[in-house]
Amino acid sequence: MYQVRLAPMCGVTDHVFRGICAEMGCAQGYTEMISAMGYLCAPGQRAVQDLMIRGPQEKKLVLQLFGREPDVVSEAAARMEALGRFDGIDLNMGCPAHKIAPSGEGCGLMRVPDVAEEMMRKTVRAVSLPVSVKMRLGWDRDHMNAVDLARRAEDAGISEITVHGRTREQQYSGEADWEEIQRVSESVSIPVLGNGDIFSAGQAVSLMKKYRVAGVMIGRGAMGNPWIFRQIAELSRGEAAEAVSPADRLAMIRTHYGRMLAWKPKQIAVREMRKHIGWYIHGLRGASRCRAEINRTEEPEAVLRILEELISEGKD
Ligand SMILES: Cc1cc2nc3c(=O)[nH]c(=O)nc-3n(C[C@H](O)[C@H](O)[C@H](O)COP(=O)(O)O)c2cc1C
Repeated sequence: MYQVRLAPMCGVTDHVFRGICAEMGCAQGYTEMISAMGYLCAPGQRAVQDLMIRGPQEKKLVLQLFGREPDVVSEAAARMEALGRFDGIDLNMGCPAHKIAPSGEGCGLMRVPDVAEEMMRKTVRAVSLPVSVKMRLGWDRDHMNAVDLARRAEDAGISEITVHGRTREQQYSGEADWEEIQRVSESVSIPVLGNGDIFSAGQAVSLMKKYRVAGVMIGRGAMGNPWIFRQIAELSRGEAAEAVSPADRLAMIRTHYGRMLAWKPKQIAVREMRKHIGWYIHGLRGASRCRAEINRTEEPEAVLRILEELISEGKD
């Protein structure tokens, strides 16, 4: 049985979207990454509280933390575990962002493996939940140390590792290297999940068959496409993957919109929904004209009318 997960994505995988993916069969999601230091300094801050909401539809939810200092990260993990809301703690060792990695957080930890190891050991000791790690292949092509870090992780008591098959230097360019992901997987006995460039259910299933991994984590391929989780389950059972019709897309947008409006003030919900709608309608005839119109529209009902027109025009 392969594990199929929704990747953490800042600004995308809030509890509403994770809930939708869970309803489509995704067994486990992750919070967007949360700063350990930010939480310890201001645990009641609205932005942090929002990131920690667990939606009613969610199945397993893992809290993802980022930070630079082992003591800070392990203490934040212990305090957040006490909320009783999460099924695991994930340590971010993969974020390549300019505001994060160069200061030794996210993928920056891969440059200081002793610190990364200390963080893993301290966090495992500080909590009783399983602790996992998400990493890249290394900082750059000359420093591909994911195998070394994975071995340290196993030794530190980490329960599971996800490897995004790129280096920090690559950011999101080039292609994810699944051979290298497999090399990491074969170097440890704890489960290793592969991540990178899965944009269809067929691709997910063939990668899981081809490479020795415990499962896959899907990020961008789930944007506007939560059905990917249902389709992976269908294909894994040997069934055909049920196609997604434009009407299915509209119905999903309605659900997503309704839940966002129930959570956030209208103005904010309308703005945040624009990007999701863009992803949901991607590839439909007339989508770009429709997107431009939606980006000028402030009323949810008006937005839905524009989408209804797009769908009915597509039927001609
Ligand atoms: C918009 C965006 C935000 C992301 N935020 C996070 C994050 O908070 N934590 C994390 O570990 N990775 C984050 N990632 C990386 C993804 O989890 C994933 O590793 C990456 O997108 C590669 O997988 P994919 O090809 O399936 O998208 C983010 C990626 C994107 C595109």
